[in-house]
Amino acid sequence: MCGIIAYAGHRPAVPVVLEGLRRLEYRGYDSAGVAWQMRGQLHIARASGKLQSLEDKLASMPAITATCAMGHTRWATHGAPVERNAHPHLSNDSGLAIVHNGIIENYRELRENLEKMGYRFYSETDTEVLINLVSEYVKSGLDVLPAFAKALKQAHGAYAVCMLSKDEPGVIYAARMSAPLIFGKGVGENFIASDIPAFLPWTREVVFLEDGQIVCASANEYSVYELDRLSLAAAPVRKIQWDMQAAQKDGFKHFMLKEIFEQPRVIRDGMTGRVQGEKVVLPELDKLPVPERLHIVACGTSYHSGLWARYLLEPWAGIACDVEIASEFRYRDMVLGEREMAVFISQSGETADTLAALRKAKAVGVPAIGLCNVVGSSIAREADAALFTQAGPEISVASTKAMSSQMLALALMAIYWGQRKGSLKADAEAALLAQLADLPALLDDNLPEMRKRAKELAQKYAQARNFFYIGRGFCWPLALEGALKLKELSYIHAEGYAGGELKHGPIALIDASLPTFALAPEDALFPKIKSNIEEIEARAGRVIALVNPGSDVSATDVWAVPALPASVAGFLILPALQLFSYEVADYLGNDVDQPRNLAKSVTVE
Ligand code: F6R
Repeated sequence: MCGIIAYAGHRPAVPVVLEGLRRLEYRGYDSAGVAWQMRGQLHIARASGKLQSLEDKLASMPAITATCAMGHTRWATHGAPVERNAHPHLSNDSGLAIVHNGIIENYRELRENLEKMGYRFYSETDTEVLINLVSEYVKSGLDVLPAFAKALKQAHGAYAVCMLSKDEPGVIYAARMSAPLIFGKGVGENFIASDIPAFLPWTREVVFLEDGQIVCASANEYSVYELDRLSLAAAPVRKIQWDMQAAQKDGFKHFMLKEIFEQPRVIRDGMTGRVQGEKVVLPELDKLPVPERLHIVACGTSYHSGLWARYLLEPWAGIACDVEIASEFRYRDMVLGEREMAVFISQSGETADTLAALRKAKAVGVPAIGLCNVVGSSIAREADAALFTQAGPEISVASTKAMSSQMLALALMAIYWGQRKGSLKADAEAALLAQLADLPALLDDNLPEMRKRAKELAQKYAQARNFFYIGRGFCWPLALEGALKLKELSYIHAEGYAGGELKHGPIALIDASLPTFALAPEDALFPKIKSNIEEIEARAGRVIALVNPGSDVSATDVWAVPALPASVAGFLILPALQLFSYEVADYLGNDVDQPRNLAKSVTVE
């Protein structure tokens, strides 16, 4: 996730900006840069890699006395993590500089128009297109503010941007649309950043900018405008009480909780640029044929995403699907047929078993797709095609938002291949995309209430020593994931089962001391899971049943979440499971973000 900080004030601006960038490092990045105004010119310095490389570069330059500057850390999503793609970017005439977080979906079209007018582009970024568009409007006679607003109105997508103009010393322009941007009000100095920790040493007074707002700030003044008509907007100033750690966690107690609550944004971002009208566009996969058989290979939570996705890939794309644990796949003697392909899912992109499995697939001639969160990771680099989940850095060791982002990307892949194969009818595709598009708002509305219910249940069940999780169909992989989350965070032994398997052995364990978490939304298999719950209750087992409102399931505890079509219900059920495990672990006083014995990235076999 990119980080932005801009400063206008009385101090040397570049050191302030560098300190701000350091405070945003926890968001993850692969390149960094700063821009500053000095002696009527704009200057930039950029470097790939860590901030130290940028600082080394700056140290070799003549003294920088600027009191207005902006900086950026880039987490590559489009375009390689190299210096030419790092921000800031300058307009062709070097009159404007920009830093940007987000995606301008229609940048290709905007770029083509600008190219026809003679503009040249030196990076693969959408950002460079935006700054030249503003520049074009300035050249046509507009002042900087209306030119900025006019260009932004043409840009579709999500963004947080900051801009400097060589002709307006000491002034910062910034705007937001579906990406975080916060104004920091100081005394004789002002700040703009994508997150509060960036300016916390200097001010605690903030304005949370809303979507569609522009701010124009200098050392002693600032104004917030509505992008639409450039009318002045209300901009209430709030006082932040958080310390640095809490600010990085956005006020949440743990990174895990913050990341659970980020899932609506992750789903929104995952669709941005990939859903255009009623079509899914995945140019990363265009050069590969549509597979006839797909091997999905991964570990842990990523493996569960793969298992879940099989329930979509087979019916939507008509592709036969095997889902396998990477540590098994890598050592198995396989029989391969024609038109087979493999997808390797890995948040980190560095998991040793998944990487070895990818190398094995390539060695036997199976094209490999890497589905990763970390751009530039080994799996992404070695795959024949890489697709990024765009979840932003996941700091908590237990994976949460990464799984939603993988599920979303896999659902889009199923639709994309269904489109190419003609196995998915246009009206079915439109309905699926509409269901996905509704998810972020639904999650935003329901997560706080779900957390309350998770907390009540966690307190009641935290003393259990063992737990069962059961589900069927789409809910079976989610039951596996629920059990994994509980064991890794709370150290309570938990097993996930397909509900139908209970009677083949595990039911022997059921008694009053072994509770079961049953996933029982009203989908096609509801009557089946309902009778599984009855079998457990008949043996004195306690059951938490996750159901839809109005359900006639009888269980020890019922947890109702809104009803959704089966193919997207997982996006709501998953956070319920995550919240339950989180609350149990927190209640037990465990180290939620760093459970014992676990590493975020398992780079050894
Ligand atoms: C569970 C968890 C692990 C990872 C697994 C694969 O919360 O985080 O099970 O999912 O180690 O990691 P990646 O996705 O990085 O390959």
